Amino acid sequence: MSAKLSVLQQLPADLDRERLPKHVAVIMDGNGRWAKRQGLPRIMGHRRGVSALKDLLRCCNDWGIQALTTYAFSTENWGRPLEEVDFLMSLFEGKLRQELQDMVDEGVKIKFIGNLAALPQSLQAEIERSVAATQDNQGIRFTVATNYGGRQEIVQAARAIALQVQEGKLQPEEIDEALFKSYLYTADVCDPDLLIRTSGEMRISNFMLWQIAYAEIYITDTFWPDFDRAEFHRALYAYQQRSRRFGKV
Ligand code: FPP
Repeated sequence: MSAKLSVLQQLPADLDRERLPKHVAVIMDGNGRWAKRQGLPRIMGHRRGVSALKDLLRCCNDWGIQALTTYAFSTENWGRPLEEVDFLMSLFEGKLRQELQDMVDEGVKIKFIGNLAALPQSLQAEIERSVAATQDNQGIRFTVATNYGGRQEIVQAARAIALQVQEGKLQPEEIDEALFKSYLYTADVCDPDLLIRTSGEMRISNFMLWQIAYAEIYITDTFWPDFDRAEFHRALYAYQQRSRRFGKV
């Protein structure tokens, strides 16, 4: 093992363990451009993107971060060429199957958020299997946003709350931020403290609109397949230099 790798297997010394983000959210962007730059088809960028994600998940587990949420497929991504959408769906399914045992062994608790009913049946089955197999795990909470849109999430919460009111089970005055949060897909995890976006784009792209209200945002020009532990270290270092005021002075 190289000296560099063995150092990065542990939390780097210039990071304060007490002030790590509890929850990191990532918009993994730039797979296509990474592939183009290498003269490869776009799908190769997605393949490499999965490796980068696996490494980040391990890294978060190694360094003591409690939750990682990633944006794998947005509600808008259906607008991509059919072959790319099909490729992504079978990539998700195949990788889930392939990685499940490692996740079980490493204590990962996986969850999927989004409109999952619209995904291919075989992918839905694999999702159910991986969630069930890891449900008692006590390690990192790994959430994969798949066919996810932040506005869609808020609308489905509003609709579910409206139904409760219509059925007389809830009074409008009882609707507050805590109640609203309990109707979101992420009701059982804390909000992200740090949102990372790769490939230099300065956008939120409909990701976790409610949950990122007070997240620190870190944007790097690096394309997602090249986002490694050294890059994550830089992101965490930048996060720890910030002063989080939550609207106070
Ligand atoms: C953005 O790059 C990336 C995606 C739309 C797909 C991300 C998915 C993964 C990395 C795989 C996740 C895997 C599992 C099993 C959860 P892009 O295609 O938008 O890149 P571009 O902006 O350069 O075109």
